[in-house]
Amino acid sequence: MRKRLLILAVLVALVILPACGGSGSKEALRIAILAPLSGDVATFGESTRDGVLLAIKERNAAGGVLGRQIETIVEDSQCNPEAAVSAANKVIDQDGVNYIIGEVCSSASIPLSEVVMAKGIFQISPTSTNPSVTVAEDGTTKSRVFRACFIDPFQGTVAAKFAREQVGVQTAAVLLDQGNDYVRGLAEFFKEAFEANGGEVVVWETYTAEDQDFSAILTKVKAANPDMLYLPDYYSTVNLIGAQAKEKGIEAIMMGGDGWDSPDLDTSAVEGGYFTNHYSVDDPRPEVQNFVKLYKEEYGAVPDALATLAYDAAIILMDAIEETGKDDPAAVAKTLEGMTFDLVSGSISYDAKHNPVKSAAILQVEDGKIIFVDSIAP
Ligand code: PHE
Repeated sequence: MRKRLLILAVLVALVILPACGGSGSKEALRIAILAPLSGDVATFGESTRDGVLLAIKERNAAGGVLGRQIETIVEDSQCNPEAAVSAANKVIDQDGVNYIIGEVCSSASIPLSEVVMAKGIFQISPTSTNPSVTVAEDGTTKSRVFRACFIDPFQGTVAAKFAREQVGVQTAAVLLDQGNDYVRGLAEFFKEAFEANGGEVVVWETYTAEDQDFSAILTKVKAANPDMLYLPDYYSTVNLIGAQAKEKGIEAIMMGGDGWDSPDLDTSAVEGGYFTNHYSVDDPRPEVQNFVKLYKEEYGAVPDALATLAYDAAIILMDAIEETGKDDPAAVAKTLEGMTFDLVSGSISYDAKHNPVKSAAILQVEDGKIIFVDSIAP
């Protein structure tokens, strides 16, 4: 009799306990990372993946989220609208993912957000700065789409004011890829703020993503002789334009945005130039210095802004799921709206458009090195 009772007790334990929280036996919670791991801006994707994986590794070691381990699915979405949409469909339909961290590039994050909204899941972009990532065409906020970075109206204004007030720039030439949401948006926001602050845009020239030879538009820049050459594109294109401008003897001070942030930025092509960014490794705040140390130990490299924002985005997402208490993307989005965070890239809360309110850093390329110049609060 005793023996039978014992067997019964063991059976009950085997059947019931895992279902009500025996750790280790619970199914993993899946999070997808969509980032460009090949092509022109591959360093963006590598840093993003590494930042997210580091945050998840730490959280898994501390017991995971909702008592579940986190499993990551990484897809190369190539900074490209079509690739991002098919990667999203794959991770949602085949892998059953409810949460996406990505994309990096605004022009991929915008179409991705439409899939996310149609399929009822959750997205946080670490780094996409164009306003349309979180806001629909009719002006409403996309309920399950968030970001971890500031937006380009702020970034463009910070750059324009800095150029006018700190560098004393009076005239600027702006070159842009009009087919890229991020580049076009940042160019427009810069121009608007630069003119509002009394500056004059004397050259406004567009090119396409395929262009390699910029001599025709650089001839116009040379003739106009502006104080500043504003280049709001990604590092791969900036490397080309910067080198060709220097070859032509253009002496305008170059300036750009977060797209310059890469270990593959050709510092000689943009020597003396400034760019706005999300954070600086030289920031003495302990959050930054501890993270830089941790990242170096893990990967043997200094984290760029992409790695940092990816790490922060993963923390935002994991904390929001934990706080919500269940794996439910709509409920997680609702909870997140009211949360505040002390992150590596700064302390944040969300505004009504799901944008964090936070400072920008101004960096300069000096003697081939990137130095911290200033931090500007909204
Ligand atoms: N802000 C860029 C975009 O929206 C992406 C980016 C962020 C690139 C940070 C470099 C560094 O497309």
